[in-house]
Amino acid sequence: MSQVHVIDHPLIQHKLTLMRQKETGAKDFRELLSEIAMLMCYEVTRELPLEEIEIETPICKCKSKVIAGKKLGVVPILRAGLGMVDGFISLVPACKVGHIGLYRDPETHKPVEYYCKLPSDTGERELIVVDPMLATGGSSAAAIHFLKDRGCKHIKLVCLVGAPEGIAVVQKEHPDVDIYIAAIDEKLNDHAYIVPGLGDAGDRLFGTK
Ligand code: PRP
Ligand code: URA
Repeated sequence: MSQVHVIDHPLIQHKLTLMRQKETGAKDFRELLSEIAMLMCYEVTRELPLEEIEIETPICKCKSKVIAGKKLGVVPILRAGLGMVDGFISLVPACKVGHIGLYRDPETHKPVEYYCKLPSDTGERELIVVDPMLATGGSSAAAIHFLKDRGCKHIKLVCLVGAPEGIAVVQKEHPDVDIYIAAIDEKLNDHAYIVPGLGDAGDRLFGTK
């Protein structure tokens, strides 16, 4: 069974509270999401392997540590996942970005794929799928299936807010994928929206309400 890591640093909780508030406009929503993504990236990359190299400081030669050539990729689920990319690539500039376009059918709530573009060496990379919302889990689970179909073996999922139902779906379909999340909310409503949640993340991010 995969692990669920709740990243509830006080800065993240504070910023998430601001994002949840309905009066928060698109500019602040975007900035807060990007800041939280950066803070989450710091935690998600905690286990990256290091190697020692020889360097020379202004004082002397010494050995010092750098990240050991691990190839990373961040894969936002369009649209709302786009709001988390900047936070990741500002901390890990060498990571490649793949895109998976999915939307939820408003009637069935099932994900519909409309775009997929991944780095050519996707199968060799450790991939971090990002999407602020994990509601029924359908979109995240489908995105992870696409990546596995293309040979990816090392995948993590990073979300902002999740419902217990969605977490259970991803854990059942992908027991090898750890989930990093800032908050686990109470439930889904009849329209499969997270309660209390923050509403429609894509619409709030891009002002399309
Ligand atoms: C939202 C959100 C997730 C998905 C979560 O996207 O960004 O991708 O719903 O719901 P699920 O866990 O039930 O699949 P949406 O389909 O609204 O598309 P958008 O980002 O383009 O608005
Ligand atoms: N998608 C969202 O953007 N919000 C929800 O609460 C559920 C799905």
